[in-house]
Amino acid sequence: SMRKKKLIAGNWKMNGSLAANDALLRAVLAGAGLPGCDVAVAVPAPYLAQAQALLAGSPVALAAQDVSQHAAGAFTGEVGAAMLQDFGVRYCLVGHSERRQYHGETDAAVAAKAQRALAAGITPVVCVGETLAERDAGQTAAVVRRQLAAVVHVVGHCVSEIVVAYEPVWAIGTGQTATPAQAQEVHAVLRAQLQAASAQPAGVRIVYGGSMNAANAAELLAQPDIDGGLIGGASLKAPDFLRIIAAAA
Ligand code: G3P
Repeated sequence: SMRKKKLIAGNWKMNGSLAANDALLRAVLAGAGLPGCDVAVAVPAPYLAQAQALLAGSPVALAAQDVSQHAAGAFTGEVGAAMLQDFGVRYCLVGHSERRQYHGETDAAVAAKAQRALAAGITPVVCVGETLAERDAGQTAAVVRRQLAAVVHVVGHCVSEIVVAYEPVWAIGTGQTATPAQAQEVHAVLRAQLQAASAQPAGVRIVYGGSMNAANAAELLAQPDIDGGLIGGASLKAPDFLRIIAAAA
């Protein structure tokens, strides 16, 4: 198979401190050994330097949670892709539903961010997912296809370089995980869309996010089109994150 290794990425969201990050990363590194999957942690921007130093030479990659759609200049409060590159960032989340919901990010803005990351040699992890109302209205496939199409339109043949994260909004932080069948159904929709858009679709990883934890990771990761996980709450506890990493090996 041309499919890449699975990717397990922690998304710390707006959590952490110098002391807590130090303890968490040391515990993850001590427990991960040589993982059988790719591993990354998306830390808040102020902690990139700290995490870069702790993760240097380790198999755990550094990730960011967002990037500006602009290159540089008069954009107060923004963090540019070149700045992330300066700190050895390998992956960057774009279009997380919390950014779309609370910060008004449009499909076009998310696509521009993905393009900025790619241009800096950073792999964008493009987050897509439907709300509960959209699912109940039978719009799930249409919503995720629209969100991914905007990115495909902008990045063109570079779509083979992205990671897609399917995060149903109703499953994020709720403890209500999508069933493996529900997740697989949407991943298959996204896979088909990538197949139509990319010369090397099998290389694109589609990871699942939304209340993934140590207890449910294995059956989600066993689905044919689930290539990893994007982990929120459970990535803040080293034993839980390590069990998910082990389930992906
Ligand atoms: O990006 C990961 C995330 O949104 C899932 O969060 O806490 O449900 O694992 P959580």
